Amino acid sequence: MNRLYNALQLKRLYQLKQLGYRYVPIIEKRSGSSADLPDDLEMLKRIVSECRLCALSKTRTKTVFGEGDPNAALMFVGEGPGAQEDTTGRPFVGRAGELLTKMIENAIEIPRSSTYIANIVKCRPPNNRVPTPEEAYTCLPFLMKQIEIVAPRVVVALGATAYHYLTGDKSGITKVRGEVIDTGNYLLIPTYHPSYLLRNPSAKKEVYQDLLKIKRILCENC
Ligand code: URA
Repeated sequence: MNRLYNALQLKRLYQLKQLGYRYVPIIEKRSGSSADLPDDLEMLKRIVSECRLCALSKTRTKTVFGEGDPNAALMFVGEGPGAQEDTTGRPFVGRAGELLTKMIENAIEIPRSSTYIANIVKCRPPNNRVPTPEEAYTCLPFLMKQIEIVAPRVVVALGATAYHYLTGDKSGITKVRGEVIDTGNYLLIPTYHPSYLLRNPSAKKEVYQDLLKIKRILCENC
């Protein structure tokens, strides 16, 4: 997977930068799947739990790997753990998580446990700030590998941060929400983050439309 390869290269470059490197010779492209991460969610989870590759590891309580059906057709990607996620080690368990669960169960009409939920970064950014590019790119290979293993049909990017790091596109979420982007491996659908909906309940109408679209796509062959 090209994006996984690129994410791993970026991670390596950020590590070298942290070590003081200002220049590195061209990195040779390897062929085929470049993943130097395991193709097994439990093994990947163990690696994440021991990760010390960025400064977020110093302030976290628990890593938040992600959870759900390892064969899910639908995957949600958020930004990063908040306070309750940091304490419990589970994604989307706070107020935003309660709303996400309602969105899945009431609009798409499937149990939350039949989906897979993960984040761009696996450790809580202090004060819930947006992860820095360095933190996001360092962590991204883990998410790319999760997507590769779960192999969902649809990935929903919750909010601008998830959309940006999943696509490389810096367009605002308002502009792209509801679009269906065929990545070749899965369909990516950006929508508003549940935290945004808690602050702007009037935007729930639009997200509801996005969720119905997701439901239709998932039911295409059922
Ligand atoms: N917000 C996120 O983006 N992810 C979580 O896991 C919780 C809140």
